[in-house]
Amino acid sequence: MELLNALKWRYATKKFDPTQKVSEESIKQLLEVAHIAPTSSGLQPFKVLVITNQELKESLVAHSMNQQQIADCSHLLVFAAWDRYTEERIDGIFNKTTSERGLPESAMSEYGTRLKNLYLNQSAEENFVHTSKQTYIAFGIVLAAAAELKIDATPMEGFDNAAYDQILNLNERGLKSVTIMPLGYRDADNDWLVNMKKVRHALEDFIIEIK
Ligand SMILES: Cc1cc2nc3c(=O)[nH]c(=O)nc-3n(C[C@H](O)[C@H](O)[C@H](O)COP(=O)(O)O)c2cc1C
Repeated sequence: MELLNALKWRYATKKFDPTQKVSEESIKQLLEVAHIAPTSSGLQPFKVLVITNQELKESLVAHSMNQQQIADCSHLLVFAAWDRYTEERIDGIFNKTTSERGLPESAMSEYGTRLKNLYLNQSAEENFVHTSKQTYIAFGIVLAAAAELKIDATPMEGFDNAAYDQILNLNERGLKSVTIMPLGYRDADNDWLVNMKKVRHALEDFIIEIK
């Protein structure tokens, strides 16, 4: 399986070669992967920011546990989820769905009402837990897609979410940062992890078969 080979090839890159840039064509493909990812009820409650500004990337290092990959990567993706569900947000995608499928608006109104009864009665924090989970699905698929394109990536949670939200004006957009992913090409001569064995729990302990 090609994908499995790609996943064995990838690793959480610790040192990028800052001179190597990912092509715009590849970035476009990775963003399309994020865009097409499945989400609960198709609400697609997140956005992806693409940062190439070198000054900004460098300033974010201090808010990313001093991880140098942020400065050295070619493109920094920030996955940011809706801070909460609102009636407008739910109606927005449902109306788009019925319109693009040529259905009457009423076709999804019962389902929409059910979702609104569920989510709008929850706290913003509970909503954000749910929107974050949706974001992780896309994050994982993009990580796999990058590997397929032989683009290095580091999945990252090691950053100050509040600082990112403030610097990137995410609050104003009704978003909160969830994960980040520097993309680029490994500096194989200077990355301590590049030749290290991948360590995982034993497969037989990991799989629980119920027959
Ligand atoms: C959600 C998530 C957050 C992570 N955060 C960081 C991080 O902040 N910095 C880092 O260098 N690696 C980070 N990692 C990488 C993990 O340590 C790494 O994926 C794991 O040890 C397995 O190694 P591999 O990805 O090289 O196969 C993160 C991975 C995931 C999935």
